[in-house]
Amino acid sequence: MNAIPAAVPPPKNDKSAFVRDMFATIASRYDKTNRIISAGMDEGWRRRAIALLRAPHGAHIADLCCGTGDIVFHLLRTDPTLHVTGVDFCEPMLAQARARSAREGGGTAEFIEGDVMALPFADNSFDGATMGFAMRNVAEIDPTLREIRRVLKPGARFVNLDMSKAPNAAWKACFDLYFYGVVPLIGGIVSGSRAAYTYLPNSLTHHPDAEGLRDRFTAAGFANAGFVRLMGGAIALHYGDA
Ligand SMILES: C[S@@+](CC[C@H](N)C(=O)[O-])C[C@H]1O[C@@H](n2cnc3c(N)ncnc32)[C@H](O)[C@@H]1O
Repeated sequence: MNAIPAAVPPPKNDKSAFVRDMFATIASRYDKTNRIISAGMDEGWRRRAIALLRAPHGAHIADLCCGTGDIVFHLLRTDPTLHVTGVDFCEPMLAQARARSAREGGGTAEFIEGDVMALPFADNSFDGATMGFAMRNVAEIDPTLREIRRVLKPGARFVNLDMSKAPNAAWKACFDLYFYGVVPLIGGIVSGSRAAYTYLPNSLTHHPDAEGLRDRFTAAGFANAGFVRLMGGAIALHYGDA
């Protein structure tokens, strides 16, 4: 039997294992690769996500699919009174986050291994939640959104930052050229895994557009669901209140 090439997204039931293994292979170079392929702009997008969260002082925030902790540390730099719990199912990514935590200092962060589709928390646990560049990677969006809403206190906000589909055809064509052509090349060289940086752009292909994802937020029970386009819509911030 022929093996499926690593860059081809696997069937849904294998997707979680595929994604976990892929991030394990690139964990140690993930931060460096991100800064290069986004030309450093990803930091600004994360700051916009945090502004949209409007977390009150002292709030307990979950950063879901936290990876190496980028959003966690941005949250704590923005407001050191926050208590932030980072959750990810890839232990090597969490190991990077914990190592950074020792270096960054300040604020209260903890990192927990867990699957965002079955979070290890009681109902109504958090005052807010964030997720960055991960909704494309979950095996199923709708159960994920319902699970996130379950762990939020009533009225608490969820903000999701991710790649999206630019509405302007000319801009989308330019961006696609970069995303599907240049990113696998540069990402492959810097991270050492061409397969990972071929899969990552392709994960956008079957992802809903911005309006579609907003409607999924609403269907999962989030109130006031909406989105903000960044980079002409190539990036989007979605939000909703539990
Ligand atoms: C592209 S990285 C994003 C990391 C971080 N949020 C950031 O902004 O840099 C995606 C992360 O999602 C995690 N992930 C994907 N699916 C997951 C799931 N079902 N449960 C928990 N973590 C998941 C991966 O392990 C990976 O660390």
